[in-house]
Formats: sequence, C-alpha cells, structure tokens
Amino acid sequence: MKVAVFNTKPYDRRFLTAANTKDGDRHDLHFLEPRLGPDTAQLSGQAEAICAFVNDGLDRSVLRMLKANGVRLVALRCAGFNNVDLMAARDLGIAVARVPAYSPAAVAEHTVALILSLNRKIHRAYARVREGNFALEGLLGFDLKGRCIGIVGTGNIGLSVAGIMAGFGCRVLGFDPHPNPAFAALGARYVGLQELLSQSDIVTLHCPLTPNTHHVINATAIAAMKPGVMLINTGRGALIDTRDVIQGLKSKTIGYLGLDVYEEESELFFENLSGQIIQDDDFARLLTFPNVLITAHQAFFTQEALTAIAETTIRNISQFESAGEAAHPVALEWRG
Ligand code: NAI
Repeated sequence: MKVAVFNTKPYDRRFLTAANTKDGDRHDLHFLEPRLGPDTAQLSGQAEAICAFVNDGLDRSVLRMLKANGVRLVALRCAGFNNVDLMAARDLGIAVARVPAYSPAAVAEHTVALILSLNRKIHRAYARVREGNFALEGLLGFDLKGRCIGIVGTGNIGLSVAGIMAGFGCRVLGFDPHPNPAFAALGARYVGLQELLSQSDIVTLHCPLTPNTHHVINATAIAAMKPGVMLINTGRGALIDTRDVIQGLKSKTIGYLGLDVYEEESELFFENLSGQIIQDDDFARLLTFPNVLITAHQAFFTQEALTAIAETTIRNISQFESAGEAAHPVALEWRG
C-alpha cells in the first residue's frame, strides 16, 4: 500500500523502514517532515493510507481532504487517539488504527523516573555539583516506602506503574471506571476519585484524554489533594488545567509537578526551539518553579517501544490491505 507518513524524524524513518523491510519490502512508505493539518493534508498525494503521530491534527476538515485524495486508512503510530475526530472518520468511511500497548514499561519507567528525580531533586543536584556546589540544603527528599500513590487509569501503563511502586513499598490506590483484576492482585485498592486525591502523596495520571477526563485535575480536584502532593502527568496534557495547576504550585498545595505532556505541546515539543523566544506564558511560568520537572513527551522513547510501534503500525496497514480491517482498529464507541 502507498502510505504517506507525516511528521517524521530520523528515528521514525529508521524504525519504520526496518519494520517494513523485515520480511521483504511490504509497503511504499513516503516519509514527510511536516505535521499533518489543514495546510499539509494535500501532501498525502496518491496514498491510500496515512500514518500520523500524537501532535498531528485530524479534524473533520483534514479528514475530508484526505478522503478526497483517496485515503482509506489512518494508521496512528501512538496509543492515544484524542487528535482524531472519530465521528468524522466514521462518516467519511476512513478506518482508524492505533498501537494500543507498545511498551507500557517505557512510559511507566519514565513516570517513575520523574517521581524519583522530583523527590530527590536530581535535576537540581546535577546542576549544583557541576558548579562545584556540594551543599545539601534544599535537596531534602522523603522515603517512598510507606507513602501512598494514587493511579488514575489502571490500564496497561497504570498497572505497570502500580507494580513498580508496590515494589518500592508504597500503598497503591487506583481509580478507573473499568477495574482491572490484575491491579487488585498486586495488593492495590480501588477507591473513588475523591478518596484517591485526598489520600495520595503522589497522584499520577494514566487515563486517556476524553471529554470525561478533560481537565480532570482542576482547581476543585487540587483543593481535595493533600498539601504538598506530587502530581505527575505522562498521559495527555489536557488532563490537567495548567492555570489551576500553576495556582496550586503558587499556593504550595502542589509540592512537586512532573510533566511529560502539556496541553499546548503541539506548538513546542519535538522541535529544537532553543534559539527562540517561548511565546506560551503558562509554559514559561511552569519552567520558573524549582519543583517542576518537564520532559518533552519522551516517556515512550525507548528502543523497544519504537520497534513495537513500527511493527504494529506496519501490521495494521498490512492487515487492512489484506482483510479490510486493521489489527488494532479504533472504534467510535471506545470506552472513555
Ligand atoms: P489503556 O487503554 O491500557 O488504559 C487506560 C485506562 O484508563 C483504562 O483502564 C480505562 O478504563 C481508564 N479510564 C478511562 N476513563 C477513565 C476515567 N475517566 N478515569 C480513570 N480512568 C479512566 O491505555 P494505556 O496504554 O495505559 O495508556 C494510557 C494513556 O497514556 C494513553 O491514552 C495515552 O494518552 C498516554 N500515553 C502517553 C505516552 C507518553 O509518551 N507520554 C505514551 C503512551 C501513552
């Protein structure tokens, strides 16, 4: 199948080419650098499938343009699909596929890296030691053992975080409208969202972004949290209301913030903007707090995850070509 692969970096091309040629050349992949949006949709050319990433915009108008060009499949090379208008895709008869669980460990381990770094202030200690400042004042941490962690969304990634944190000796609470038996098997306990927020020393978000979870962490939720709570978001930026979180940091209700995702990240992440002036004042404000640690959507970025993403994406396309349905279709009625 001819596939227009949008928004590619050298690593995307490397891993997708390897997966595509593993058992002999399968698909005709056209790698494009631009992000997919209204101004670039025409670049799909003669392709019957397009491959897109988290910050490509697939609203109704873009999908309509793709359809007019002959696109029948949108193969997402990511797990989340909040950037696709699924209703429009269905109306237009465009199938949507994703990579549901390429490496839960990759994201879970990065989540734990943020927790450990924030707690022991590794980001500050690293800079200090390089400057010849060996003072400890300001670097005080706490033992994770015996602390309570609240996991919002206990699917593949949330479950993996639960397992690691149980290993640290944490008490693990979870909230999920679809309880996962494997979670309780770890000795973790399901509670309501309010109880999770009020009991947890660390709150970490692993649910998908849906209308139900948009800004699930807002001023009301923050008010319910323990003073000094650590909040981690490696899910999707819009799970938290950034301005409310900034207020929570200023009032010290939030004692630590670790982010791998940001609501307006599509204007920032995945590019080297080090020589430019950041125009996003909320993001710039977040960077001023000593107790905020931000990574630029890299939680998924391991060799194993990129291999799995590429192989599943190629499988989705192959199966769509041969059987008319991708291996991992995204259904409109997907539980949210
Ligand atoms: P999953 O589908 O295995 O699990 C999601 C869980 O969230 C499900 O158990 C579901 O029932 C639950 N959920 C749905 N609505 C909820 C609600 N209102 N409150 C609490 N829980 C709710 O997904 P997986 O693989 O664990 O990924 C979770 C999210 O992580 C993805 O949707 C994606 O947005 C994000 N992600 C971030 C990455 C990164 O690099 N930062 C990489 C991969 C995923």
